[in-house]
Amino acid sequence: MKAIVWTKYGPPEVLQLQEVATPAPNENEILIKVHAATVTAGDCEARDLSLAPMFRLPFRLYFGWRKPRRITILGQELAGEVAAIGRTAVGGAAVGTNATQFQVGDPVFATTGLRFGAYAEFACLSARSAMTPVWPKPANMSYEEAATIPTGGLNAIHFLRKAKVQSGERVLINGAGGSIGTYGVQIAKAWGAEVTAVEHTDKLDMLRSIGADHVIDYTQKDFTQIGERYDVVIDVVGKSPFGRTVRCLRANGRYILGNPTISGMFRAAWTNRTTDKRVIFEAASYQPEDVRALLGLIEAGQIKVVIDRRYPLADTAVAHRYVETGQKLGNVIISVR
Ligand SMILES: NC(=O)c1ccc[n+]([C@@H]2O[C@H](COP(=O)([O-])OP(=O)(O)OC[C@H]3O[C@@H](n4cnc5c(N)ncnc54)[C@H](OP(=O)(O)O)[C@@H]3O)[C@@H](O)[C@H]2O)c1
Repeated sequence: MKAIVWTKYGPPEVLQLQEVATPAPNENEILIKVHAATVTAGDCEARDLSLAPMFRLPFRLYFGWRKPRRITILGQELAGEVAAIGRTAVGGAAVGTNATQFQVGDPVFATTGLRFGAYAEFACLSARSAMTPVWPKPANMSYEEAATIPTGGLNAIHFLRKAKVQSGERVLINGAGGSIGTYGVQIAKAWGAEVTAVEHTDKLDMLRSIGADHVIDYTQKDFTQIGERYDVVIDVVGKSPFGRTVRCLRANGRYILGNPTISGMFRAAWTNRTTDKRVIFEAASYQPEDVRALLGLIEAGQIKVVIDRRYPLADTAVAHRYVETGQKLGNVIISVR
């Protein structure tokens, strides 16, 4: 099969199109014929190790010190169809099909988590693993749209549920124009919140078009300095000033650190002990109730996936280069088929 091989840590050019062996599913695994994958900020951070400093050492210890060895294909989310189950060959009859509730041919979407591997024509995943769950694709979404659900949709709903957003509350999302933020704006609106989106000038029209009640251009104004108060601040991008953000929360306000720093974690613990505010920095996981709630909104037509650009698999490095410019509106897709 064709795949984009991650040859070393570094710039987008380290991603190279190569012919590699098609993986064979073990028991409890399914083989997915990939139709679409995405390029997220997280993929770029993994590729060149521009991760938050506290993650760099464990990442290198796990993936390979000098170059990626354990994993050589990037890509953390995908959508496609089930090509084989358990130990069957591609297109063959199922043998020992204890892997999954899925049948060959079912349309699915999935997160590959720290196994990565979505930038390829086929990917194997354990359908029972909590780390790499596979879900049926919503009927009203294309493969390209469904591929954006794990990072954008499920992280957004995780953050909003952790913040216990209630109808009528004022919610501010910092970094609202990307994968997580564009879902976050729409989910918060669907839950009845009044939403303020903070973003770069170029993304404000798009954010209004998906329902943001207010937009703030971070290149012109600091949202903590304009005298507004919020029940919830979700800092997707990790660039809000900690102390000033806490001060712009209403009584019992909640502040979600989507991209926490070590100092942010210490300050969160102190704030939680000494004030009526809650600062939360829990890593996102894929809770069944979050998946159900999000799929319910999708099936009801309340979520519009924002897709900026599509690239063929061979141009994955070009897609990474574009995502790194920061200009991405919502999501960037790798169209594998
Ligand atoms: N905690 C978790 O469990 C978890 C899970 C998944 C991802 N993450 C992290 O979340 C982060 C964001 O994810 P994403 O996929 O949504 O990224 P994304 O698609 O790149 O979106 C981030 C957005 O923030 C904007 N931005 C940059 N600087 C800003 C600033 N100073 N103020 C306001 N907005 C700003 C960017 O636009 P411009 O560059 O044009 O300004 C971009 O539109 C990543 O770093 C990722 O590692 C955390």
